[in-house]
Amino acid sequence: MRFYSVSSYWVVLLLVLVVKAGPIEARVAIASAHPLATQAGFEMIEQGGNVFDAAVAVSAALAVVEPAGSGLGGGGFWLLHDAEKNNSIMLDGREKAPLAARTDMFLDEQGNFNPQASKNGALAAGIPGLAAALVHLSERYGRLSLEVCLQPAIRYARQGFEIGPRHQKLLRFRLRALQKNPTAARVLLDHGKIPAVGYVLHQPELARTLELLAQKGRAGFYQGEVAAKLLASVKRGGGIWTQQDLDQYQVVERAPIQGEYRGIKITSAALPSSGGIVLTESLNILSAFPLAQFDAVTRIHVVAEAMRRAYHDRALYLGDSDFVDAPVARLLNPDYAAGRRQNIRLDRALPSAYLSETGFEADAGKHTTHFSIIDDKGNRVAATLSVNFPFGAAFMAEGTGVLLNDEMDDFVARPGTQNGYGLIGGAANAIAPGKRMLSSMTPTFLQDESRVAVLGTPGGSRIISMVLLATLDFAAGYGPDSWVNVPRFHHQYIPDQIQYEKGGLTDDEIVGLKALGHRLKEKGYRYGNMQAVQWNLKTGRLTAASDPRGEGLARVR
Ligand code: GLY
Repeated sequence: MRFYSVSSYWVVLLLVLVVKAGPIEARVAIASAHPLATQAGFEMIEQGGNVFDAAVAVSAALAVVEPAGSGLGGGGFWLLHDAEKNNSIMLDGREKAPLAARTDMFLDEQGNFNPQASKNGALAAGIPGLAAALVHLSERYGRLSLEVCLQPAIRYARQGFEIGPRHQKLLRFRLRALQKNPTAARVLLDHGKIPAVGYVLHQPELARTLELLAQKGRAGFYQGEVAAKLLASVKRGGGIWTQQDLDQYQVVERAPIQGEYRGIKITSAALPSSGGIVLTESLNILSAFPLAQFDAVTRIHVVAEAMRRAYHDRALYLGDSDFVDAPVARLLNPDYAAGRRQNIRLDRALPSAYLSETGFEADAGKHTTHFSIIDDKGNRVAATLSVNFPFGAAFMAEGTGVLLNDEMDDFVARPGTQNGYGLIGGAANAIAPGKRMLSSMTPTFLQDESRVAVLGTPGGSRIISMVLLATLDFAAGYGPDSWVNVPRFHHQYIPDQIQYEKGGLTDDEIVGLKALGHRLKEKGYRYGNMQAVQWNLKTGRLTAASDPRGEGLARVR
């Protein structure tokens, strides 16, 4: 008897220790750009919620604690997988152009582009989708009520949270624009100046807006008190929103882009994001190259050549599929990739001018946010959310705490004119009333015979190349810690150069790539903020990793 009881005691103790240590009973893995957002997700799991409840809580919490990246005034894409139904969908909560928007709305009478107007202030803002997406996600997929899922965000907004160095750095980046908007300055700045790290940011008006959303669902945001305040502020700020815009805003469930690379199933964002298409086309082009056998220089060269071609197609063909007939099937066809691959030479870079006469230029910022969640049944969420530039349009609607996005800048204001990130496109991404602007956000699932991965990152046009590099790292057998650490380089057709993050290429790689004819541009910083989780199908083990470049938190519980 005694023997059995002691033994049972040790068995129980051992089980408890194993459980605490990790894999056996680790039910959910969450990685997000802010520890409080990750914590909000786990709060839902602890209350009996599922990964979709956690996704609602994380999204709402990020809107409060990382206002530079996303928010109720913005939108995003939630890639969802319901394991029981074995079904993946993309929830499209992307902003839409207001109904009064016009193709030439950012051009003056001489036809000159006014880049300030599409980036700062109320005219830059598309109709937000985040609030509608949270309601949809909660009602359609969650187990808990929306009210419960929004509680952590409401708490963070009302009780405040300490700002970190990243928040402070992004405030500095947008300081002048924020100072021009008295409401944003009052809420986000400390007497008009950058607050110190550790400053407690209280957002009582945002807490009230979240409470109304929690109580009334979409009517709490798109109608009534909040809607009236949004519309009044937008009007005063020179914007063009109407109640009809808010009433008509709808999220859309879309079929994700599906691809395959060396036995790995790719599931990623569909239009109006270019992410999944550019990612899959790049991988299709790369699939015929023995990357693992190449030396580092040849490997980077070939990957950059694939990026060059896929980004070229992005610029030429892609826009909101509700408005334009984008040739998606052709771009994803392996035969098309074979054609694109034909003029890739191992001994020489092909100048972008040889692909087309059109000039394109691009850069990428530190905006947007991503989080990844998976449970040990395989239910999962990859969500990339954005207000575009850090702190969006730097315009807060009075009395709401809602910072408006500046996603209108993701449209092509005029063919041949660069947007805020230097991107140029064609008619497919021209402004039209009610249209969604082309995105680069790339929330992605990867699956091979033994692993399921959920990943994504912020980073403007470089989002897609970052997810591509992480996918190649997954294909090489590495795990989340490695994907988020991979040194980053990027080619997007024009400028005709390989951009790389600070320290992203070795001296030998730089010499070798120059010898192949590549122009190189080192960025003065490390970029991206990847959040990734993995479920090992053979061991059941969950793992999670948060990009060391950011201040996020990845945990398994
Ligand atoms: N606003 C960034 C993107 O959607 O690509």
